[in-house]
Amino acid sequence: MLGLSLGLLLASGSLSSCLLIKETNTAQLPTATISNNGNGSPKTVFVGRSLPEFDQDVFLGIKYADEPTRFTPSELKTKYASNDSNSGPLSLTGTGLVSSSGSIIYNAAQYGNDCPAYGSDTTKLVNTGLAKLNEDCLNLNIIRPKTESKELLPVMLWIFGGGWQQGATADPRYNMSYIVQQGALNGNPVIGVSINYRLAAFGFLDSEEVRAEGNTNLALRDQRNAMRWVKQRIQAFGGDPEKITIWGESA
Ligand SMILES: *[C@@H]1O[C@H](CO)[C@@H](O)[C@H](O)[C@H]1NC(C)=O
Ligand SMILES: *[C@@H]1O[C@H](CO)[C@@H](O)[C@H](O)[C@H]1NC(C)=O
Repeated sequence: MLGLSLGLLLASGSLSSCLLIKETNTAQLPTATISNNGNGSPKTVFVGRSLPEFDQDVFLGIKYADEPTRFTPSELKTKYASNDSNSGPLSLTGTGLVSSSGSIIYNAAQYGNDCPAYGSDTTKLVNTGLAKLNEDCLNLNIIRPKTESKELLPVMLWIFGGGWQQGATADPRYNMSYIVQQGALNGNPVIGVSINYRLAAFGFLDSEEVRAEGNTNLALRDQRNAMRWVKQRIQAFGGDPEKITIWGESA
């Protein structure tokens, strides 16, 4: 009797959680599709997350460059693999999404790694579990209001401060949901983008040898790669590549 009722409980529990997953996810997971460079190469579908409380879709942790070789310039990422995301691959089971043949599914639900840095802000972010530091950190985040309009939206690309020694897009102070929400409420919807770039010695090492190699100011070059990525790809997310505003703080 106990075994039977337990069995029933388990069965009904798993059934309702199955239904729940389907109900909450079907048609709610936002996607954006880009073509990988090169003829006949597969498309990449970025799968993000909806924030109903902000009336937004977010795509987080999109790599604009692969992990750079330490102390050398990053390279703009043009091809994606399904295990590229710092959040790992995404299983489509239960999402209501179906993969068209051969496309790469990129899991863009969570912030990616932040760049190794030092200072009190970084210490706090790491200790509270808000940021994970790793040299594989060249990623960006896209925050988009849901709009009826078919028009491409202007883009605001945010560069955080921190004296070039610290800073992280996952810092809650740089949560772009709020400003993007204000834009939509004011009838001037914009897409928010925040970018990570290398910090401290990883981004700004300098010496005669570094200069001789031409590898100075790597962080600023990371930022440019992020800007290139946005210019080339933001249209797939509903952004207007002719209307990109760069803004930031301090550094
Ligand atoms: C992704 O998969 C490829 C091939 O299966 C493997 O070589 C590569 O190391 C993987 N990358 C990551 C980040 O796990
Ligand atoms: C902003 O913060 C809210 C509240 O914690 C959270 O639900 C939302 O996911 C955050 N948005 C981004 C883009 O991090």
